[in-house]
Amino acid sequence: MEVVICKTKQEASKLAAEMVSAAVLNNPKIVLGLATGSTPVLLYKEMAKIAKATKVSYKQAKSWNLDEYVGLAGTHEQSYRRFMNENLFSHIDIQIKNTHVLNGLAKNLERECAAYEKQIKAAGGIDLQVLGIGSDGHIAFNEPGSSLKSRTRCVYLTPSTIKDNARLFFKGKESEVPTRALSMGVGTIVEAKKIILLAFGKGKADAVKGCVEGPVTQFCTASALQEHNDCWIFCDEESASKLKLKKYYAWRSATILGL
Ligand code: GLP
Repeated sequence: MEVVICKTKQEASKLAAEMVSAAVLNNPKIVLGLATGSTPVLLYKEMAKIAKATKVSYKQAKSWNLDEYVGLAGTHEQSYRRFMNENLFSHIDIQIKNTHVLNGLAKNLERECAAYEKQIKAAGGIDLQVLGIGSDGHIAFNEPGSSLKSRTRCVYLTPSTIKDNARLFFKGKESEVPTRALSMGVGTIVEAKKIILLAFGKGKADAVKGCVEGPVTQFCTASALQEHNDCWIFCDEESASKLKLKKYYAWRSATILGL
């Protein structure tokens, strides 16, 4: 695990976007795993900016998103399908038919999840997975108590995640937030060949501490990433503030990245 600590989220997002773009340039048929939430918005902006200014093209790329709320149509303002179309897909040359988001309206949720796993496998697995992190240390919607071997499935959101995400829903009402979601499992996520997690702001400091320096435990599902051999955590100074070895990580990653 490499922890990159930048002064600002702008700087961190730019560096992460350069890493993603380099991977796409190197493998135009890349299979991307993509995340939603406020955290990757700047990353996606930077990726689009780089694609416009360079030869980086997503024409042959494919993507699978981490999760989707159960009960929301892809056209709903807060659906993750809509988020992706607005924040990334409409700004790069990826073919919409090659982008995949779980269908929160599927009649048979179990079948939807099993089919998603099959599709990812058939595509050769995820080459590069982008992640955010919940304030309780969750990745995708793998809430505390999720098995570290879990696969794509229907999950129940914790009250704290519902509270965190309510700000985006109608009048910020918690009652508007679906209580269930379909989510890739921790076991699905850690199979990605490369992982880039972004975490910004002091509200994520405890989650980052648990992810990087806590024990590997299902009570902070991001901690499973400690066992991955090509995982990059991009932080700003606030989200990295509780790390014991922050100076060492900053020096090491800067040396590796030649910063
Ligand atoms: C949701 C998503 C996660 C995301 C998290 C944090 O729970 N399922 O993938 O990482 O929110 O969101 P934000 O980036 O808005 O803090």
